[in-house]
Amino acid sequence: MKIAVFSTCDYDQEFLEKYNTSHQLVFFEQALNPDSAGLAQGFDAVCLFVNDKGDAKVLSALAGYGIKLILLRCAGFNNIDLDFAEEMCIKILRVPAYSPEAVAEHTMAMMLTLNRKTHKAYNRIREGNFSLTSLMGFNMHGSKVALIGTGNIGKALYKILKGFGCRITAYDPYPDAELVADGLEYMGLHEALSNAEIVSLHCPLTDESFHMINEQSLKYFKKGSMLINTSRGALIDTPAVVGSLKSGQLGYLGLDVYEQEAALFFQDLSGTVIQDDLIARLISFPNVLITSHQGFFTREAMQQIAETTFLNADAFLAGKNLVNEIKP
Ligand code: NAI
Repeated sequence: MKIAVFSTCDYDQEFLEKYNTSHQLVFFEQALNPDSAGLAQGFDAVCLFVNDKGDAKVLSALAGYGIKLILLRCAGFNNIDLDFAEEMCIKILRVPAYSPEAVAEHTMAMMLTLNRKTHKAYNRIREGNFSLTSLMGFNMHGSKVALIGTGNIGKALYKILKGFGCRITAYDPYPDAELVADGLEYMGLHEALSNAEIVSLHCPLTDESFHMINEQSLKYFKKGSMLINTSRGALIDTPAVVGSLKSGQLGYLGLDVYEQEAALFFQDLSGTVIQDDLIARLISFPNVLITSHQGFFTREAMQQIAETTFLNADAFLAGKNLVNEIKP
């Protein structure tokens, strides 16, 4: 099958070439959007990542080129109009779980960095400043953490936090029986937010979860608490969060995702003037840590992504049961 791979960086190419079963791959650095959709002409399938667009406009263009398959090399599918894809007879296959531990471990790294300020200590020591002033943290042991979403990643983080001796609660419309049996207490969203010193988001972006952290829900947070989002940027109303940081209601913020990340993340913009004033404001806070959607980025996860992507492509070609298909 001839596959157009969008939004590729050198590491994507390396892993996809290594685990390619038998397909002809052409790599494009560009993200898929209405302007770049023409690049897919002459291909049988497209392979997309988190910031590629699969809206009605793009999907009609793809259908017009005879494309019947979209291979998502990620778990989230909020960037694809599933109803319209079905109408266009385009199948959407994804990688449902690739090392949830990778994202959970990155989340833990963000919590520890914000708490113990190791990023600041690193820079200080390099400048010969051995002072401890303003580096004081708190014990993770005994801290109250709320997990919003306890699927693959939330569950992996639960196990890590348990090892740290945290007191964990959760909100998820579908509680996990194994975690309940292990003693995890589920509660309503607002109750979970108001109980916790650290809130970590691990639910998908849906119509229901869009801006779930907003001016209203931020009022439930304990003063000085920590919010971590390694799921999807639009779970958070970012201007409301900036307000909360300014007032001190929110004491720490860790973001691996950002609602407007498509124009920024995965690119080296160090020689340009950043036009996004909101991220510029966020970067200016001493208690905000931003990473560029790198939660998934481990060797193990990259291998799983590549292997599952080609299993999906092979199953489609062979007319087999599509276990990783997403339907509306
Ligand atoms: P999953 O599908 O295994 O679990 C999601 C959980 O969220 C489910 O238990 C579901 O019941 C729950 N949920 C659904 N709606 C909810 C709501 N409104 N409030 C609270 N819980 C809700 O997904 P997984 O693998 O754990 O991934 C979670 C999210 O992490 C993905 O949707 C994706 O957005 C993000 N992600 C981020 C990555 C990164 O590199 N930063 C990499 C992979 C995923």
